[in-house]
Amino acid sequence: MLFKNIKELVQVRSVAIDFVAGEDMKTLPTITNAYLLVKDGRIADFGEMDNCPTDSVDEVVDATGKMILPAWCDSHTHIVYAGNREGEFVDRINGLSYEEIAQRGGGILNSAKQLQATSEEALYEQSKQRLEAVIRMGTGAIEIKSGYGLTVEAELKMLRVIKRLKENYPIDIKATFLGAHALPSEYKENKYKYLQLVIDEMMPKVAEEGLAEYVDAFCETGYFTVEDTRLLLEAAKKYGLIPKIHVNQFTTIGGVQLGVEYNALSVDHLEEMREEDITVLKGTKTMPVALPGCSYFLSIPYTPARKMIAAGLPLALATDYNPGSAPSGNMNFVVATACIKMKMTPAEAINAATINGAYAMGIEKEYGSITLGKKANLLLTKELNSINFLPYAFGSNHIERVFINGESI
Ligand code: NIG
Ligand code: FE
Repeated sequence: MLFKNIKELVQVRSVAIDFVAGEDMKTLPTITNAYLLVKDGRIADFGEMDNCPTDSVDEVVDATGKMILPAWCDSHTHIVYAGNREGEFVDRINGLSYEEIAQRGGGILNSAKQLQATSEEALYEQSKQRLEAVIRMGTGAIEIKSGYGLTVEAELKMLRVIKRLKENYPIDIKATFLGAHALPSEYKENKYKYLQLVIDEMMPKVAEEGLAEYVDAFCETGYFTVEDTRLLLEAAKKYGLIPKIHVNQFTTIGGVQLGVEYNALSVDHLEEMREEDITVLKGTKTMPVALPGCSYFLSIPYTPARKMIAAGLPLALATDYNPGSAPSGNMNFVVATACIKMKMTPAEAINAATINGAYAMGIEKEYGSITLGKKANLLLTKELNSINFLPYAFGSNHIERVFINGESI
């Protein structure tokens, strides 16, 4: 397939990179008046229209006035869940806080109750609707977490649903085991016993069935402490499960430091950041991930992107799509919100939502940029004046077509 007359081919990285950080995030390389050739689902050639190949191709797409970007890489979601929590949404409008709702047995435990009572089949059906919807909105690779099961059986059910999604959909899906998401009420007086269940029963089964690549924990006041999380990450090492952890959403308790110590692939949320949390990330291979949809929905602070980028750090953006703190999987909204609320430039936000997102789920060699040999997961925009229009005109759909492995969906 040949795309020709592309007004701007965006995020072109002729020399493959792992991620972009600091000052470099401001640069979003593009080719104007470009062509792009796709063969066997991969990027086979690209360049200026002057050099456009003339050999015959199966299909030509005329992209006059339109732009092409790599599809979004959403490195943090919880899209496998049962039911919804719009009741809690109204409770929050009426004055309760997210923490208060959780303390009353709502929140994650509410979702766990619903998920435990849902069959694997029904869970798959509900989750696949969401997956299909986010693909239509331009997501070309996604990470999905467990963590709404909280029993051996229900955690495995969630992970098997993720496995089935992996098998049945053409986008890349990475699975993360989040057994330590919240403490089930029957373990209220005995947190250690639940951690034992996670470590001694869930984790070996997850590893044995090859159900996850990554391990996560909600390292937060009122959930799991740094020491609890350390126990988990230590155990996960044995199974080769790489950490990607929830830290600094409401309080700064040392989760970032722990993540760095355990070579986490990413540390996610970061709404609360102290100077030392920024410093410890410098020069590491751990990607900080911001989730502005969560900040928006819960009215909590946004990740201090400007401070972090000024310190030379990279930053990735993801949706956190989940029923409690971010019921939206729209990466276009995330990119716009990062520009509007976090003062990221459109170039920084697009870097954060493509190549840096790919890195945050370990797939930067195959996704996240227009590079020879990478998967042809692409967004064809509607006619646009400039790439800045994408986040500027927030809330409108600017995507005309989405291509996954070179196939129009
Ligand atoms: O990333 N913070 C922890 N977990 C999810 C939300 C969980 C929920 O409320 O269901 C998050 O925000
Ligand atoms: Fe999350």
